[in-house]
Amino acid sequence: MSNPSQKPLAIASDHAGFGLKESLKQALTRWGVAFEDLGTHSEASIDYPDFAHALASGVATGRYSRGVLVCGTGLGMCMAANRHQGVRAATCTEAFAARMTRQHNDANVLCLGSRITGPGLAEEILKTFLDTSFEGGRHAGRVTKIEV
Ligand code: RB5
Repeated sequence: MSNPSQKPLAIASDHAGFGLKESLKQALTRWGVAFEDLGTHSEASIDYPDFAHALASGVATGRYSRGVLVCGTGLGMCMAANRHQGVRAATCTEAFAARMTRQHNDANVLCLGSRITGPGLAEEILKTFLDTSFEGGRHAGRVTKIEV
């Protein structure tokens, strides 16, 4: 499993994504990928933007190499994370999208939906996301143009 830098990955979820986050943490540990768990730490109801903003600001400032956000659909987390400059969050429901968003968009935050994606597929998506490099070249200028 490649680690894009020496910095840890960050992972966070809301209550709906808590179970899948715990399962993905086991996979990260198995793969030897260093990570910080930014919560939430139970299935008690919380607001997903609070966790998305905490993780996204850590990615934006360079504290974390990349991030993983889990909520019920992966959509609300993605919307909130993408408000941060320099954060390119992508919701993926299969591995092809995870590979393409790394190769073409240099996505640095993966969003997953626990009510859509089961733990086995989520693990495959995460592995693909971590193992795939940005292609650069013609995509570099396009990625720069994403920022407003
Ligand atoms: C929580 O019920 C749910 O709204 C949240 O996990 C997420 O899916 C929002 O986008």
